[in-house]
Amino acid sequence: METLLLDENQIDIAVELIKRGEVVGIPTETVYGLGADASNEKAVRKIFQAKGRPADNPLIVHLADFSDAEKYTSCIPPLACRLAEKFCPGALTIVLPKNERIPLVTSGGLDTVGIRIPSHPVMHEIIKLSGRPISAPSANISGYPSPTTANHVMRDMGGKISAVIDGGQSHFGVESTVVSIENGDTVRILRPGCVTAEMLSEVGGNVVIDKAVLSGLEKGEKASSPGMKYKHYSPSADIVIIESDFEKFTAYVGENYGKNVFALVFDGEEENFPYRCMTYGKNSEKQAHFIFQRLRELDDLHAEKVYVRAPSKEGVGLAVYNRLIRSAGFEVIRL
Ligand code: TXA
Ligand code: MG
Repeated sequence: METLLLDENQIDIAVELIKRGEVVGIPTETVYGLGADASNEKAVRKIFQAKGRPADNPLIVHLADFSDAEKYTSCIPPLACRLAEKFCPGALTIVLPKNERIPLVTSGGLDTVGIRIPSHPVMHEIIKLSGRPISAPSANISGYPSPTTANHVMRDMGGKISAVIDGGQSHFGVESTVVSIENGDTVRILRPGCVTAEMLSEVGGNVVIDKAVLSGLEKGEKASSPGMKYKHYSPSADIVIIESDFEKFTAYVGENYGKNVFALVFDGEEENFPYRCMTYGKNSEKQAHFIFQRLRELDDLHAEKVYVRAPSKEGVGLAVYNRLIRSAGFEVIRL
C-alpha cells in the first residue's frame, strides 16, 4: 500500500479515509497517533496489525469534547469530571467503565476505556469532521520509541497505513498521563506524562503512583495497565541508565568505552565530556520533548550501547524516567 504524506490543509482526505475504515497517522500535542474509527472493529484490527501490537493492550479513545464521554462510558465519577474540567483538552487520559459502543477489540478485552480529549487542532478537526471516536495508539512499531515527527511515522508505518498528516514536531514529546479513579476519591497514575502528580492533586482527592511506573512487574503480577507489562520504547541499541554525578558518569563511560558506544548527557555537559555523546535537554520538559527523537537518532548512528544520565523523577521528569527505564529493560546502575 502506498502511504500518502498529507499536509495540514488536506485534513478532508484523512477524514474520508477514516470514515472508510482506514488507518491514518495523526499529529497530537503528545506524540503522533495511529488513528482509526474506534467503533469499527475491522478498522481497529488494522491498527493492531500495522503496529504488531498484542491484542490485549487497549487503545485510547480520542473525543472532541469531554461531554461526549457519556456516549461511550457507563459511569463518570465526579472526580473524573473535575479532572476533565481542569486538564481537557490536553495530555490526560482518564480510564472509565466502557459501554457497548466501544468494541472489545478496541479495549483489548477490558470493560474499561481510556478517554482523551486532544488539544492538537489537526486531531481535533479529524474527530469533529469524521463524527467518529478515534482510537489512536502511538504511531510506532510496537516496542519501539514513540514518533514525534511525521517522518518517524513514515519510517515505521510507510506501506502499512493509508496516510500520515504532517503537523510538525510534537509539542510535549511523551505520551499522555493515564489515570484511573479508585473509590471515587483517588487518582491512580498508570502512566506518567506532562500532566504531573502535583498538577493532578490540585483538583482535590488523593493521587497515587502505580508501582509499575517506577519498576518492572514481578513474575505473575497483574498489570493495572496492560501496556506496562511489555518491553517498550526500545531502540536497537542497548540502553543503560546511570544514576550518579557527572564526574562518576564520565569515568564509568571511559572504563566501558569502545566502538559504537555512546552517551546521552544533559545540555551543556557535552563541552566537558570527552567521549561520543548526544544531549537531551537540561530541564524535564526539554528532556521529554527530545527523548524519543534521540533514541531514534542513536539507532541511525548504529549505536550498540548507550549510557544515559538518569533524569530527575520530579514533575515531568517522572515521565522521562518511566520511558527510559523501560527502554533500558530496567537496567539501572547506581554509582
Ligand atoms: O498521548 C497519548 O496517549 C498517545 C496519543 C496518540 O494520544 N497515545 C498513546 O497510546 O500513547 P498507546 O496505545 O501507545 O498507549 C496507551 C497506554 C497503554 O500503555 C495502554 O495499556 C494504556 O494506555 N491503556 C489504554 N486503555 C487502558 C485501559 N482501559 N486501562 C488501563 N490502561 C489502558
Ligand atoms: Mg505507545
